[in-house]
Parts: sequence; C-alpha cells; structure tokens
Amino acid sequence: MILSGREVASAVKKELSSRTAEFLEKYGRRPLLAVILAGNNPASLTYVSGKQKACDETGIDHRDFFFDADVSRQTLVQTIKELNEDKSVDGILVQLPLPNHEDEELIINTIAPEKDVDGFTPSNVGKLLLGQIGHEDLVACTPKGILRMLDYYKICTDSKNICILGRSNIVGKPMAALLMQRDRNATVTVCHSLTDNIVPHVKIADIVISAVGKPGIVTADMIKEGAVIIDVGMNRIPDSSKKSGYRLTGDVDYQSCLEKASAITPVPGGVGPMTIAMLMENTVIAAFRNR
Ligand code: GUN
Repeated sequence: MILSGREVASAVKKELSSRTAEFLEKYGRRPLLAVILAGNNPASLTYVSGKQKACDETGIDHRDFFFDADVSRQTLVQTIKELNEDKSVDGILVQLPLPNHEDEELIINTIAPEKDVDGFTPSNVGKLLLGQIGHEDLVACTPKGILRMLDYYKICTDSKNICILGRSNIVGKPMAALLMQRDRNATVTVCHSLTDNIVPHVKIADIVISAVGKPGIVTADMIKEGAVIIDVGMNRIPDSSKKSGYRLTGDVDYQSCLEKASAITPVPGGVGPMTIAMLMENTVIAAFRNR
C-alpha cells in the first residue's frame, strides 16, 4: 500500500476550508498566519511557497516577513514581539533552520505559545510530553501529520515496535513523545547520529520513521517483512535531466523497500503535504481558540 499524503492532505484542506469560511462569517476576517524567513536556503524557500499556496487553498491569509541572512537577532525578536501583540495575527511561524543556528532557541522562545502553530515553544512541547493535549492544542506539524496519515489508512500503533531515525526537535523528539502516550501505546526506539548500529533497531520495527536527511539510509535488507515505512527525508540530489537541476528523494531506498514493506510513503507526495496541511489546521485552531 502506498500512503498518499497528497490524498489525506487534500481531505484535511477541504474540511479546513469550511472552518475558515465559518471564521470569516463570525469574525469578519480570515485566519492569518505570519511567516518569517531569514536567508534564502532553497529548501526553506520551497517550504514557504508551499505554505503560501496551502493558505490560498484553505482561505487563510498570510503575512510574510523575508529577511536577509545577516538579519540581527534583535530585529527578529522585535518582529515576533509585535506579532505576539497584534490581534489580527493568529499564528506565527519562523522557518528553520535560521542562518545563525545559535539564535534558534531564543527566537522560538519569543513566540507566544498560543500563536505557536509549529508547536515548538517550551510550554507546548512540555504539554505534549506530559500528555496534556487535546484537539485544541498546538502539536508539531510533521509528527501530527504522520499520525493523521496512519489513522486515515487504519494503521494502529498499539503495542507496535516503532523505530524513529533522528532526534530533532522538529520531528524525532515530538514523534517519540506522541507515540509513547497512552492513546498510541507504541514501544519507541530513537536512533541518532551516535547510535552504534541502527540495523538491529530497524530490523525489529513494525513501523520505521526516518527523519535524518540521508538518502538511502534505510534499505530493504534492514527492514522486517511487512513493516510500515514512513519517510520524512527531503533530500535534493543534483539531476541535470530536471528543469530545476535536482530531484527530491527521501531517506528510504523506495524501490527496494516497496517490495518488502506492507505500506510506504513516497517522496514527494507523502509526509510533506501532511506537514503543510497540519500547519493550516493549527492556524485555524489557534484562530478560533484565541477569539
Ligand atoms: N523546517 C523544516 N521543517 C519545519 C517545520 O515544520 N517548521 C518550521 N518552522 N521550520 C521547518
């Protein structure tokens, strides 16, 4: 089975369109997402244009703040503080990575938790870890999107061995926290760059979630027969036959794993569209909740 994030995301966006119409009718304006991008990292530019397109499709307004790569920490902090105070702004997203990695913690921590549509601030992450989350809380978009896709395809996580590759704040950590909660009941292993050998961990996994950004790190010989393979990788490989000069590929050796897995996400068209759909959903949640 091929798990189509495009199909699930399209269903989510359709439902969101009616919620944004309801918001417009009640409050006389559309929900508004503020997007902050510093520098011109090509992957970030692609993400941001995907987010703008999804806003247009779902009836969400967006206000974009594009800064040069050498923007000061103070400018970013000041911009976020103003957006925190602005009642017409429902959600704030700072595209990561920032050109200056050391600034990320301070910048993210400046976002008001009730407008943190990425679910990256300490209080939102803390609530997630403690299991204090309901439908109206803001949870990181990629892990939330992966769970939504598993639910759509009726793939249950109860008592499953789930191996996550990557311990990032964006995917690996929140994914692990969600899967170990009492409503998901998985046994979770998180592998990372200093894991001695990932193979034995991947081999016993019923579900493998790879989010490391290394093309081909998961191969068919590593996975269990019938495993579910979720590929979060978005790697650009130079390809002169493409107009853009590159092709997108995930972390998983898709062709070989397709034979052995019971279900697998493609790249593109798998996790990526779900992340964006969940960002739209979080923006609508924040807009209603903050009224
Ligand atoms: N960079 C890669 N993924 C994400 C994401 O989900 N949110 C933000 N803000 N930056 C990212």
